[in-house]
Amino acid sequence: MKKSISVSINGKIKKFNKILKIVPDKSISIRALMLASQCIGVSKIKNLLESEDVLNCVQALKNLGVKIVKKKNNYFVYGNGLNSFDIKKKITKIFVGNSGTTARLLSGLLSTYPYQFYLYGDKSMNKRDMNRVIIPLEKIGCFFYPRKKSTLPLTMQGTSMPLAQTHIEKRGSAQVKSAILFSALSTPGETTIEEKNISRNHTEIFLKKISASIKIKKIKKGNLISLKGQKNLLAFNYNVGFDPSSAAFIIALTLLTPNSKSIIKNVVCNPTRIKYIEILKKMNAKIKIKNLRKDSNSGEFLGSIVTESSNLKPVSISKDVGMFIDELPILFVIAAMTRGTSKFKSISELAHKESSRAVEMKKILEQVGIKCKNTKNSMTIYGKSKIKNKGKFILVKTKGDHRICMSSTILSLATGIKSKINNFETVDTSFPGFISLIKNKLGAKIEIKKN
Ligand code: S3P
Repeated sequence: MKKSISVSINGKIKKFNKILKIVPDKSISIRALMLASQCIGVSKIKNLLESEDVLNCVQALKNLGVKIVKKKNNYFVYGNGLNSFDIKKKITKIFVGNSGTTARLLSGLLSTYPYQFYLYGDKSMNKRDMNRVIIPLEKIGCFFYPRKKSTLPLTMQGTSMPLAQTHIEKRGSAQVKSAILFSALSTPGETTIEEKNISRNHTEIFLKKISASIKIKKIKKGNLISLKGQKNLLAFNYNVGFDPSSAAFIIALTLLTPNSKSIIKNVVCNPTRIKYIEILKKMNAKIKIKNLRKDSNSGEFLGSIVTESSNLKPVSISKDVGMFIDELPILFVIAAMTRGTSKFKSISELAHKESSRAVEMKKILEQVGIKCKNTKNSMTIYGKSKIKNKGKFILVKTKGDHRICMSSTILSLATGIKSKINNFETVDTSFPGFISLIKNKLGAKIEIKKN
């Protein structure tokens, strides 16, 4: 088992003005690997995120017989086409670690194999809801056992005769949408998804890039996505852009640290991923996307995010949460340090992440004297522009949630309130190098203890 790490932060960060490099995008990295495994030929993926979630996805695909080789900064994936996993055992065991995206998207791919797969994850992953993919995938024709169990470990039995279906996606979950689309790749006929709440659309953009038979039509509320299955897909070259959800922490630290500025280049600025920036603009943030362009290789928008320290005003949000769901914990930190009442509604999905994130953030913000009200579907934060640090200490015990660890780090660095954050090793699931970035590039006073 991996050693647990606790991180202690001893004081406020000093002003900075830096060009910073963050990590490649996690959602896109996982999609690139899985889709490459379904194409015919060798795909080359440059700048893949080498985080634990992504490496667990690499290992899961290798267990399914996919050859994956790393040379320099490139991963080469030897695809053999749709339904080509090489399954040798009656039951293939697949470990997904902490990665909900791997668990759910891979379930989509495996649903069209007439074999059994035992899917399991780490402690935090084993508590997360799988019903959201079990229900649509069972409609297609596969089964999950034990029946009525909605969390991992689960054994799934795929089908050789998947049936194209129409699905209605109301949660705003890109994982659910993608699991269905991945299953549809090997399903005869046309699968349709009525997407009522918009979520990140990297899967759709990727499928267009590799000439899958996918159509997207805007409808009154959301999108109608249809995919004709069983079309052969050809191998591709892909360059992964940098992760806007990881950039979110550096952006927050810049906004909250007086006289500071940061520039982060080549960040994925897909319209379904930059709602956070749009919300910050509404809050009066000095933040701009410069050099915005559509990258011809990936079909994704990329840009440079330029942020300066800002005097912010509170915000009220009640829709489009699927487009900034991962940024909510750090938005709560920003709201806590902004004078006035900020309200976040329609956030029930937060309870289904690596931890129940609104509940965990409330515990943390209350330690610095910020009042929060939290219901199943909302969070109200009574922010202050100056948070006194005298006599205060932040202790974070949340297990297995990278975004809670990083949000607490930013809170501690921006307020100067000393902190101890346990189980920090989980940050490696999405942002390896986070500590060294804020320590070595931004001069944060941080102590790391291996337990
Ligand atoms: C992801 C979608 C989101 C997000 C997760 C990554 C993806 O989850 O929270 O970090 O790559 O599709 P949901 O689809 O469950 O909202």
